[in-house]
Amino acid sequence: MIRLTAIHKAYDPQASGPVLRDANLAIASGEFVAILGKSGSGKTTLLNIIGGLDRDYAGTAVVDGLELKRMKDRDLSRFRNRTISFVFQTFNLLPHLSCAENVAYPAYFGDVVPRSEIGARAREAMERVGIAHKSQAYPNTLSGGERQRVAIARAIFQRPKILLADEPTGNLDSASGQHVMNLFLELNRKDGVTVMLVTHDEHLAALAHRIVRIADGRIVGEEKTA
Ligand SMILES: Nc1ncnc2c1ncn2[C@@H]1O[C@H](COP(=O)(O)OP(=O)(O)O)[C@@H](O)[C@H]1O
Ligand SMILES: [Mg+2]
Repeated sequence: MIRLTAIHKAYDPQASGPVLRDANLAIASGEFVAILGKSGSGKTTLLNIIGGLDRDYAGTAVVDGLELKRMKDRDLSRFRNRTISFVFQTFNLLPHLSCAENVAYPAYFGDVVPRSEIGARAREAMERVGIAHKSQAYPNTLSGGERQRVAIARAIFQRPKILLADEPTGNLDSASGQHVMNLFLELNRKDGVTVMLVTHDEHLAALAHRIVRIADGRIVGEEKTA
């Protein structure tokens, strides 16, 4: 589902060294992989490459059968709308939109869901993560855990094949973090969504199928969990 071969990335070769060095990684469809590594080790850069947000690197990234660097912009945006969803540490909800509007908002930029079905699909996504009762609320009236559930509803709205979660529990207390983790595990198990979860939390990482460790831009270890 995801295959990275000899990825080499430097934002500014003059100013600093490479951020990713000879990164090789293969993730199967339906896998749940945790990425562990210190701040600055290159985790977000790695996710941005897999998500097609960054195409300025050496090496190849093939995701869902597509070699991202070779794609036309139009096909790439289609890939981003249909195949991939992101969840972020800071939720990235729009404060002037209600929760339901936040969930549905990206759909208006794509052609994945017919307009007439957007409302119902948004509701379904919110029900799935147990946040439908907050549909009409604004994000700033919600707890961190609730906000992240809205963000997950937005992420699953388009029924992505791959979910890229970048420290999604980093701003949450441990109970809310566990709840969010349970949602990812369920999406993986029941819907077969391939999940890549960046985390600092060894305990959460141990719930994934596999842990990939990254240090200083290098993949330094992989282990299967129990
Ligand atoms: N847009 C950017 N421009 C220049 N340097 C960047 C940029 N984004 C990240 N970096 C640098 O790349 C390195 C890896 O960053 P990042 O991938 O965000 O790591 P992590 O997510 O593991 O904390 C860091 O040294 C960071 O300062
Ligand atoms: Mg990061």
